[in-house]
Amino acid sequence: MIAIAIDGPAGAGKSTMARAAAAALGFIYVDTGALYRAVGLHMLEKGIVPRDADAVKQELGNVQVSLEFQQGEQHVFLCGKDVSQEIRTPEVSMAASAVSAIPEVRAFLFDLQKNMAKTHSVIMDGRDIGTVVLPQAQVKIFLTASDEERANRRYRELLEKGKAPSYEEVLSDLRKRDYDDSHRAAAPLKPAEDAVLVDTTGMSLEESIEKILAVIRQKLSDKTKEIN
Ligand code: DC
Repeated sequence: MIAIAIDGPAGAGKSTMARAAAAALGFIYVDTGALYRAVGLHMLEKGIVPRDADAVKQELGNVQVSLEFQQGEQHVFLCGKDVSQEIRTPEVSMAASAVSAIPEVRAFLFDLQKNMAKTHSVIMDGRDIGTVVLPQAQVKIFLTASDEERANRRYRELLEKGKAPSYEEVLSDLRKRDYDDSHRAAAPLKPAEDAVLVDTTGMSLEESIEKILAVIRQKLSDKTKEIN
């Protein structure tokens, strides 16, 4: 099995890049943020404040999260219900970030992520894939872009979905989430020591995908040479 880890801050284009690369290589694309989002959504539905670690931990026993792949697309299920669309709101983004700082939540989702990579060649994106979940990954990429460019992408995505937040709100939410994700004690967002840093500021989508694929191909061919 081959494992490729793509980590980076919110809105860096991880899911777009990972999906495109997975299609090109015939791997499964696993979006781990969706798992944290499902847990965050569950807490919101139960009226639990996602930052209230004690309440979240207590409720965790009632949470069932699973992944299914339909025509290569990941679907995330919360207690048997497909919530793949519902988890894509700014409220759930913030709730996911809050619950993800709780070590018990990370432990709860760990095996599910790890097991995916045991049974399939995967491209997995998240915040701690190269550092914690798949430290043995053959390729690790840390993907980023300027705050403004990432906020702008998120802002346009939300507008396309018919939502109308202000750009300033999107930018400040994104900065808060990055700050919290990078400064938490449990598995903070940071590049693995052996990650390749890719900054896509100013690059088009096609250029970014080409760059990611070039990094992956190079790394995989280096690994093959190492083995032979
Ligand atoms: O990638 P995303 O925006 O869907 O992730 C939502 C939140 O989940 C993010 O703010 C932090 C958390 N997360 C994490 O802590 N570890 C991961 N591997 C993926 C996401």
